[in-house]
Amino acid sequence: MNNKEQLNSNIPEHVAIIMDGNGRWAKKKGFFRAVGHENGTKAVREVVEGAAEIGIKYLTLYAFSTENWNRPKLEVETLMKLLVSSLKKEIKTLQKNNIRLNAIGNLQALPEKARKELLEVIEKTKDNKHMTLSLALSYGSREELIKTIQEISNKVKNNVLSPHLINEAVINEHLYTKTLPDVDLLIRTSGEQRISNFLLWQIAYAELYFTEILWPDYKRTDLFEAILNYQQRERRFGKTSEQLS
Ligand code: IPE
Ligand code: IPE
Ligand code: MG
Repeated sequence: MNNKEQLNSNIPEHVAIIMDGNGRWAKKKGFFRAVGHENGTKAVREVVEGAAEIGIKYLTLYAFSTENWNRPKLEVETLMKLLVSSLKKEIKTLQKNNIRLNAIGNLQALPEKARKELLEVIEKTKDNKHMTLSLALSYGSREELIKTIQEISNKVKNNVLSPHLINEAVINEHLYTKTLPDVDLLIRTSGEQRISNFLLWQIAYAELYFTEILWPDYKRTDLFEAILNYQQRERRFGKTSEQLS
């Protein structure tokens, strides 16, 4: 089987990507960090189209973490402006490829303009069926888990829920990712090998894939390479290899 045929089957249903390395990409070229972020948006388009092309049903991109609020004010402003301009520009790409936009994270923390634009594109693409693209914005897994515990505690306190009925499904229902399946493949670019507070609960059984490529250089063929690597792995979910065959 050649690579192309291999990309016709056993495609992970949910791929999540930690898009890292914009700053280092810019620094290497002698540019401001903002130029790295700008070029990062081109890689986003490239990967979104590539994912749709091979039939990934759910693609989740880590665009801005709760910790990223601690970056210099100017950089945060640049990232928020880029979010607005990308949404305005890429709505066409989403419609053309029949992609539904979704967002996970504490959206209340986003500047009004960014939130408004985001909600508008989510609304306009809500009936698209080919793929769900989730942008993680002001997203932090610990914040999400705290929110979940608070909501569940309130249900218990109000006698809507009994503690012994709390199970995985109940927890899933309270996460930002409630409409998404578990992550099958998590990719991180830029050579860092850490999770940085991304989808801690949802990656419990994900395959992890790290690449040295800096995010602005990431191409759809790099995504395909990650998928081919994923396809060679045996996902045992605690069982023995013999049980699976
Ligand atoms: C990823 O690139 C983009 C965001 C975190 C918003 P970085 O900006 O983290 O790039 P490096 O890690 O400094 O190279
Ligand atoms: C993780 O990248 C967050 C995003 C890609 C949005 P960071 O660059 O913020 O991660 P750390 O701080 O190096 O772990
Ligand atoms: Mg980084």
